[in-house]
Amino acid sequence: MTSPLGIGLVGAGRMGSIHARLVHTSVPGARLAGIADVDAGAAARLAAQVGDPPQFGSMADLLAAPGIDAVLIATSSSRHLEMIELAAAAGKDILCEKPLSLSFADTDAAIAAAARAGVRLQVGFMRRWEPDYVRARQRLASGDYGRPMLFKSLQFDPEPPPLTFADPTVSGGIMVDMGIHEFDLARWLMDDEVVEVHAYGSTYAHPELATVGDVDSAVVNLRFANGATGTVELARNTTYGEDVRTEVLATKGSVWVGLLSATQGAASGGLTPGSIAVDALDTAIPRFERGLAAQARGFVQAIRDDRPVAVTGSDGRAAFAIAVAAGRSLRDGGTVAVEPRP
Ligand SMILES: NC(=O)c1ccc[n+]([C@@H]2O[C@H](COP(=O)([O-])OP(=O)(O)OC[C@H]3O[C@@H](n4cnc5c(N)ncnc54)[C@H](O)[C@@H]3O)[C@@H](O)[C@H]2O)c1
Repeated sequence: MTSPLGIGLVGAGRMGSIHARLVHTSVPGARLAGIADVDAGAAARLAAQVGDPPQFGSMADLLAAPGIDAVLIATSSSRHLEMIELAAAAGKDILCEKPLSLSFADTDAAIAAAARAGVRLQVGFMRRWEPDYVRARQRLASGDYGRPMLFKSLQFDPEPPPLTFADPTVSGGIMVDMGIHEFDLARWLMDDEVVEVHAYGSTYAHPELATVGDVDSAVVNLRFANGATGTVELARNTTYGEDVRTEVLATKGSVWVGLLSATQGAASGGLTPGSIAVDALDTAIPRFERGLAAQARGFVQAIRDDRPVAVTGSDGRAAFAIAVAAGRSLRDGGTVAVEPRP
């Protein structure tokens, strides 16, 4: 039997902690081989919960340590490019949290660094690995529901992040930080590219977000290359918890994810017009942890099978381009064309 793949985690914050726990418990064939964070206390506290792997104060030290085969990047987004360039130069395969970076130049530099080094670069769009979204995609790809014609997705967070995080120079702001998941789903579920957006936003509930140039809620209209349409709704203020729902209306039926708290997914129409098929929800597992674990397993399996990763840097750039256009429309008004891939 081959030895487990050593994963080095950089960034022991909110997301890094979840990734570490899932790699430690739910990714056969891999082990958490080290944790790096500039905050030594954060790295030590996290290590104590996940089998006490070695801790490092920098990515460079982590990469120089023995037993690190691949890295998982969960630092703040503004540091992703630096981490990707270091990992690529060290010849390590990379799973990087979304967004790849906060500018087109940095995103392209990240993709180029991985390509130059010949390492894998997977982007952390974990919804693509969630069973409910996978099922929705399979239903749509089967052709049984006809052609996808309208995409509708919403993501409401319980409360806004601290201003230091909401700051677009740190997180990218609401479109890049939150919206990017929906924009990636739009491309993936509709199997088409978004070419134009129009956004509105407000600081209705949290005017303090305006001080850093962000909003607490926004709607984005989408136009796809083949003429289909869509909307994305974002908010940071449900007060009742995380609420994430997606719907695709196709020419012969509809596919839903997260429609009701009692269901994981559902579909109507397709081969049995007039019926509604409901996928049961396993409430024992927090929302998206299945996806995060499957995402890490998919990354490890691609390395083990020596094949490309399923969600690429190019996917990261495409969703980022939609987010940038939406952010520009939010700021300057009007319809904004999505910058095509170079
Ligand atoms: N997939 C999702 O749904 C999802 C959700 C939340 C956050 N994220 C992404 O995860 C990433 C991290 O977000 P977070 O909320 O966990 O942030 P966080 O601030 O909680 O954690 C970031 C950690 O990175 C460390 N760090 C920063 N610079 C570093 C460096 N140069 N070297 C080593 N460590 C460094 C910080 O000390 C901190 O512990 C972001 O890219 C964010 O977009 C994804």
